[in-house]
Amino acid sequence: MDKLIIEGGRRLEGEVAISGAKNAVLPILAATLLTSGRNEIRGVPRVRDVFTMIRLLRNLGARLESFEGDTIVIDSSGVNNPEAPYELVSTMRASCLVLGPLLARLGQAKVSLPGGCAIGARPMDLHIKGLQAMGARIELIQGYIHGTAEKGLNGNRIYFDTVTVTGTANLMMAAALSVGETILENAAREPEIVFLADVLGRAGANIQGQGTDVIIIQGAAALKPIQCRIFPDRIEAGTYMIAAAITGGDVEIIDCIPQHLEPLIHKLQEAGIQVEVGDSRLRVKGGNRFKSTDIKTQPHPGFPTDLQAQMMALMTLAEGQSIIVENVFENRFMHAAELVRMGAKIILDGHTAIVKGVGQLCGAPLMATDLRASASLVLAALAAKGESVISRVYHIDRGYEAMEEKLVRLGAKIRRVK
Ligand code: EPZ
Repeated sequence: MDKLIIEGGRRLEGEVAISGAKNAVLPILAATLLTSGRNEIRGVPRVRDVFTMIRLLRNLGARLESFEGDTIVIDSSGVNNPEAPYELVSTMRASCLVLGPLLARLGQAKVSLPGGCAIGARPMDLHIKGLQAMGARIELIQGYIHGTAEKGLNGNRIYFDTVTVTGTANLMMAAALSVGETILENAAREPEIVFLADVLGRAGANIQGQGTDVIIIQGAAALKPIQCRIFPDRIEAGTYMIAAAITGGDVEIIDCIPQHLEPLIHKLQEAGIQVEVGDSRLRVKGGNRFKSTDIKTQPHPGFPTDLQAQMMALMTLAEGQSIIVENVFENRFMHAAELVRMGAKIILDGHTAIVKGVGQLCGAPLMATDLRASASLVLAALAAKGESVISRVYHIDRGYEAMEEKLVRLGAKIRRVK
């Protein structure tokens, strides 16, 4: 198990380039199951979850022609196996994204239920309900979702009780290769969903309304192979913005999409941190003190739950008290206990965390529990006095490409030990 050793208290300065969006590339990789040919995806981040998804697709019969630099070429003409096994799905919830495409492509699917993870139960009831509405017969047998749709899938009107990002993606992909019209209501509006819809549109599906809460898909009999370039990761970009703020640094975030980061930009400015917005870059200049601000996570375009942990780390050093409400997941405060061990003052009450700013954090041995909690511990360690040792950093490797290299280039004292 790798560990990260961080000597805190150094201002970050310089520029950092943002890699492709993990949560955009995972559904796009799943969407290659809908096509039968040579798909080319550029701008792919070399993160653990991408390699897991590639392994899953090869298990299903796709052939990885190459993954050189940031470009994947994958031939999906040989897809013939409907089973996504527990040992793969249990390591990455996003594996559930193959469910809709397999039902649409093969007329059957046997996908392990992902099981819970650190941040919550992660149910799939809305994915299943939507696919049943499209004519799939679905049974839950020994922890697996067994789906069949011999006569293919048919369009229908589907309402999501809760906004679900991968649920919207799964149903959109299934509807793209089905008969008739599907209307998704209370659909997710994340940029990753808009991107998936646009890419499926270029592959021959007729999709309207992406980015709003009603998406209309006219199914196609076949889709052309996927060609696309993944856009920069808004959560990675936000993480480095907060790194600049928490270390009182001056960092230029290049190759990013500022409009994907509106909620964070406003919150940092409310806290008195300088954020200059360019076309495809942002500059964040942290002062030596900043004010507390309140956070409520919501589906896009609200404040992203994937930046909540990182924002909490920042608020532990703010002047005043910050109220953070986590509205998306039921258990996404694991990082709080670790931050308290560094000297933070945090009181948890259900979905609410009350953070009272302190003057300083102290380095400590820390345990990462999930991807974004790990990022928040790195941020706190960068600002803390003394040394921190963060274990279980495989969580970080799932979603951040070359994090310690990027941080070292910004002046951080961070190294990985096996
Ligand atoms: C996606 O997860 C992201 N993952 C998550 O990012 C992100 O935190 C989340 O959306 C919310 O933005 C990917 O895109 C691969 P949801 P997803 O379905 O789709 C409930 C990261 O750090 N729900 O939008 O799994 C669910 O329990 C990861 O990169 C149901 O009740 O999240 C949750 O409370 C973490 N029934 C809420 O909806 C369902 O059938 C939102 O979950 C599905 C979801």
